[in-house]
Amino acid sequence: MDYRNWIRDIPDFPREGILFRDITPLLGHGQAYKHAIDQLAEQVQLWAADVIIGPEARGYVVGAPLAYTLGLGFVPVRKKGKLPADTTAVTYDLEYGQDVLEMHTDAIQPGQRVVVADDLLATGGTMAATVELARKLGGVVVGAAFFIELLPLHGREKLSGIPIHTLVQYED
Ligand code: PRP
Ligand code: MG
Repeated sequence: MDYRNWIRDIPDFPREGILFRDITPLLGHGQAYKHAIDQLAEQVQLWAADVIIGPEARGYVVGAPLAYTLGLGFVPVRKKGKLPADTTAVTYDLEYGQDVLEMHTDAIQPGQRVVVADDLLATGGTMAATVELARKLGGVVVGAAFFIELLPLHGREKLSGIPIHTLVQYED
């Protein structure tokens, strides 16, 4: 299945010069969405994960159904101040400035095999921060799964040593 048919290009969003790859048509098409999750799940299963981690917000629409499909737990990573219990935090760089991601400190047990999931691998900053959080808690990151990879941004380089699976790769 060519998922590009359900990924819409929106020029100049959120800023001039950015081409936004919009997955909402794919999410809205039951068959395409299910196919995408099932295809990622086939790969994730090979990594023998104990738990799936996804960063808010779009990481939830990939990570949670993956976890459900494989009968695994799902751990949400959230932006600062949203999680109610004791948290561990990581600061990461954005294009302009910095942001903070948090995870519940008891969400992962040391030695657990973790797969990280998100909709999009761009610069890799979000996923590198998510990986750092998992490792801080003793998790062993065994794979990373995405719908989309933007190849010119070289996000893979920030995830070196981690097996990566993406459904759609854009050359531009
Ligand atoms: C988008 C996307 C990824 C991230 C990829 O999230 O959902 O999480 O950017 O970019 P990167 O590889 O350069 O970090 P965004 O921060 O826009 O937030 P959202 O998921 O809440 O929409
Ligand atoms: Mg995101």
